[in-house]
Amino acid sequence: RAGEPEVEVFSVPSYACQRRTSLENHNAPLTDALSLLAENAELNDEEGRGVAFRRAAALLKTLPSAVMSASQLRGLPCLGEHSLRVRPLTSSRSQLVLTGIFGVGAKTADRWIREGIHDLHQLRASGQVLNRAQRAGLQHYADINQPVTRAEADAIEAIVEKAVSSVLRGAQIVLTGGFRRGKPSGHDVDFLITHPEEGREEGLMPKVKTTRNSYLESKDGPGRPPSNMDRFERCLSIFKLPGAAETPQRAWRAVRVDLVVSPISQFAFALLGWTGSKVSFRPDLRCYRSSDGSPVRQSLMFDFCAASEEEIFAHLGLEFVPPSERNA
Ligand code: CTP
Ligand code: MN
Ligand code: MN
Ligand code: MN
Repeated sequence: RAGEPEVEVFSVPSYACQRRTSLENHNAPLTDALSLLAENAELNDEEGRGVAFRRAAALLKTLPSAVMSASQLRGLPCLGEHSLRVRPLTSSRSQLVLTGIFGVGAKTADRWIREGIHDLHQLRASGQVLNRAQRAGLQHYADINQPVTRAEADAIEAIVEKAVSSVLRGAQIVLTGGFRRGKPSGHDVDFLITHPEEGREEGLMPKVKTTRNSYLESKDGPGRPPSNMDRFERCLSIFKLPGAAETPQRAWRAVRVDLVVSPISQFAFALLGWTGSKVSFRPDLRCYRSSDGSPVRQSLMFDFCAASEEEIFAHLGLEFVPPSERNA
């Protein structure tokens, strides 16, 4: 109609792995709101709604400009589904605080809330039996909930690299996760470790853990055989980073560090998996893999060999998306 400004109607492929999503987000107010809704839904065990909100946020992040009117979104996947109808937020501040403790998931937080524990103070006073990881998580709560900078990640990389090569010469270590996607900060630092000779990486993790003097506490992943993207030996830990404390009287700060070890034959899959993004890019790879858009079984996900991320994308019939464009 005359007088109305022309608006671009966006057109976007269905799956995040078919899209390029850089860190430049033109719709941050909308995606922030959707992420909060997703977090709340997940804390309330409403997985389906959580996924729907995350998919909607991922889609808005990929748009080339800010949304000015709903008509621009007509026909886009993931938006306007009934599942997106906004219900009142029911998750509490207590859930967010308690699940912010390393080693505490939604179930534990809910149980504590039912027992009248709503904050760290009450938890400390309650006499609840905590496991080692949770004790460390509680002790270093403030440090761990403070974002990690790229400079801190680089400092930790140097320390971990030294520890790893001291127990296994020739071992290689790569920074993965959000930092590999170019994020300037993160909630943790993720590393993938391998060795160019197949099998030499076996038994590396326990050795690294005992060698590393800056290691504090860990919550180990399940010791399943390394057969696909999710099943690598891993160690989710708290790391003591020297000389990085805000306050001068402290000589170190605690930082969450995730270590994953993969054999060289699986390295490309491990790299792709641990680069993420976890919320959208990676799950969408699985959905894209099946013809009907439902997630495929992990065991069927990567039933082929690949020496590089490029080869994986090519095998799946996808255009290569560099890490910096996987920020969905
Ligand atoms: N990951 C995983 N299993 C876990 C935790 C993480 O496979 N239990 C993988 C995810 O697939 C993700 C990658 O590790 O792709 C990084 O996850 P995470 O550190 O949680 O997120 P980042 O993208 O690195 O974001 P942040 O900067 O906040 O850490
Ligand atoms: Mn742009
Ligand atoms: Mn991370
Ligand atoms: Mn991580």
